[in-house]
Amino acid sequence: MTNVGIDAVDIWTGKLKLDLAETFAPEKGDDPEKYTKGLGLYESSFPDTYEDIVTMGANACKRLMKRKGLEPDDIGRIDVATESSFDNSKPISTYIAGCLEDVFDGDFHHANKGERKFACVAGTQAIDDAFNWIRAGRNRGRSAIVVATDTALYERGDPGEATQGAGAVAMLVSEDPDLVELSAEQGYGSADETDFLKPNQQFPSVDGKRSVQVYLARMREALVDYESVAGDIHPDDFAYAPFHTPFPGMVRRAALLAYRHITRDTEIEEELAADIGRQPREEAFDDYEAYQDALSDYTDALKGTDRYADWYDAAIEPTLDIARHVGNWYTGSVHVARVACLRRALNEGRDVSGKRLLLASYGSGAQAEIHHETVQDGWKAELEELNIDEQIAARYDLSFEEYEQVHAAHDHSQDRDFEEFTAPSDEFVFDGWGRMGERKYRYVE
Ligand code: HMG
Repeated sequence: MTNVGIDAVDIWTGKLKLDLAETFAPEKGDDPEKYTKGLGLYESSFPDTYEDIVTMGANACKRLMKRKGLEPDDIGRIDVATESSFDNSKPISTYIAGCLEDVFDGDFHHANKGERKFACVAGTQAIDDAFNWIRAGRNRGRSAIVVATDTALYERGDPGEATQGAGAVAMLVSEDPDLVELSAEQGYGSADETDFLKPNQQFPSVDGKRSVQVYLARMREALVDYESVAGDIHPDDFAYAPFHTPFPGMVRRAALLAYRHITRDTEIEEELAADIGRQPREEAFDDYEAYQDALSDYTDALKGTDRYADWYDAAIEPTLDIARHVGNWYTGSVHVARVACLRRALNEGRDVSGKRLLLASYGSGAQAEIHHETVQDGWKAELEELNIDEQIAARYDLSFEEYEQVHAAHDHSQDRDFEEFTAPSDEFVFDGWGRMGERKYRYVE
């Protein structure tokens, strides 16, 4: 069977940042630790006034193609996953391909282009589509580009405002990949939910507290479904477990439940039994509520054990390194988490070749997907090419008043122009509207 996976990845962050503890919390009259400790977020990325989902996506693709020495002819498919699209018909991938054709020789006229939508899980679904296209033998030796690009903005004053973010992840999906091989086994947890949606509106309608519960419920279903095809899993099976990260505090909750689930009936449960007892079994309770209470007490106790803390620090914490400083990138979020943990392995000199990652994607509305990936020998060289740390450090630090301007500048219902905060160089920029209402772009040397 052909080995298919992610060959290369590149990331483009919005060029502005909002400091949540220093700038946002004081304006809201909140304790900064609500953000840094509670949600686990320090900063959010925002697009400058000349940036949007197309420029960020095209800039990430350009970096990826240049360093891999790719020409448009090498690409047979471009899919964009986004929930920030500004057109109900023309896909963002056509705009991105148009940008790239300005700087590369040749064109993408024989590449299949599309746009994937299912909230934040769409990036992973687009990778699935590319995987299936290659496995079906329809790729003619070519690779697919998947771009996950979003400006994750909430209505001003919405509780989600603290979790905003903006950026793009471009991924090259190929045969014999250098970064990770994708498993054929996958599990789904999917149900018709109304926790977070955008019914023909730019900013989401969100039931934040419910969205957290829906995330946990669908993840659990996906894990059970994944185990039904891949077999029971054990914490030692995976070097890291990157989750969709709307904010790190969400992953903290999900990881604890996942650990409880995968340690059930293992030697870990037995070893912990002396301190915290065994996990409650439903059949031992007459009353479901009493069972739930016992489960909740066990989970609290599990959280306090060194065994759990050590696993969390090793397998989960490294996946959050980038999210803490950029916020939620919706479709790109789980793909940022993958990069974050591999970058941590690189920085710590840990060789993860041949090791597995457990990927847990999620999109509101709602669907979770779980699969595993095997890290390939070329991972180090790939990670060394990324400049995300430099990009994060170079962002312009917004005052609160400037943040308000940037939010208004990206609000489609407002016709507001503001001066840019940074000077573009070697990148695609938004260049106004054309005669049919299309957005126009140009490359700035
Ligand atoms: P909130 O209600 O303002 O915050 O917003 P809170 O009061 O729940 O506090 C958050 C945490 O901070 C809590 O921790 C507090 O205890 C803690 P927890 O109990 O959850 O562990 N806290 C403090 N900690 C230390 N010191 C302090 C302090 N004060 C409070 N002083 C909410 C939270 C999630 C509702 C909001 O951010 C929101 O609506 N976010 C948007 C929705 C969202 O991100 N949902 C996540 C799951 S859905 C998802 O992931 C899909 C999504 O990405 C979209 C898509 O798929 O397209 C969103």
